[in-house]
Amino acid sequence: MSNSVITAPSILSADFSDLTGALARIHEAHADWIHMDVMDGAFVPNISFGPKMIQDVGKRTDLPLDVHLMVERPERYIEAFARAGAEYLTIHLEATVHVHRVLQQIREHGCKPGIAIVPSTQVSALAEILDDIELLLIMTVNPGFGGQDLIPRCLMKVTAAAELRREREASFLISVDGGVNRETAPSLRRAGADVLVSGSAFFDAADPKQFLSDLAGEGESRRAR
Ligand code: DX5
Ligand code: ZN
Repeated sequence: MSNSVITAPSILSADFSDLTGALARIHEAHADWIHMDVMDGAFVPNISFGPKMIQDVGKRTDLPLDVHLMVERPERYIEAFARAGAEYLTIHLEATVHVHRVLQQIREHGCKPGIAIVPSTQVSALAEILDDIELLLIMTVNPGFGGQDLIPRCLMKVTAAAELRREREASFLISVDGGVNRETAPSLRRAGADVLVSGSAFFDAADPKQFLSDLAGEGESRRAR
């Protein structure tokens, strides 16, 4: 694993009428992944987009598509999102009873399974499925909208997840989603985040390439060498 974190701009904050421009910004900034938030208007109080969007974006990029399903009973849609080209397919622990089964379903369809937790869910609730995931997405805002402030208490969950990973000798990536910006990134990296998702701060940045380099702490790792 590189000493720099993976950056994943979230397309939710893009102008949907100018996806070509959004993808150009993402590519020119040398992003590592593209984060894509699917919202169903039931699990979260907002509706975003479905598999067609994933498929269309996939035609215009070689970057891994990091698909975050904020959808109730996601088992109904795994095949559709796998076909659409998701590389990481992340479901919420809170969105289905049969989490273990759905994670297997994701793997059977050729995607890397991820699990996400909302701010009120403890990391310890993941104990039974840690061997079945490749990504743990810790939400640091209540899901549904971009542009919210990170909930400071959630930082401890990143530390707890990193500890649990060490104890269990697991290798899943720890991703942080919500309110990630230049101010919050350093403490998230120190706590053990491997992937930083950023929506509004990325699309608002005057220099998106410099912004992602700052998020990843590249200046710091150079200085530390
Ligand atoms: C929120 C989404 C996030 C969102 C992050 O429900 O899961 O991925 O795009 O947006 P910012 O970075 O603006 O908090
Ligand atoms: Zn997300």
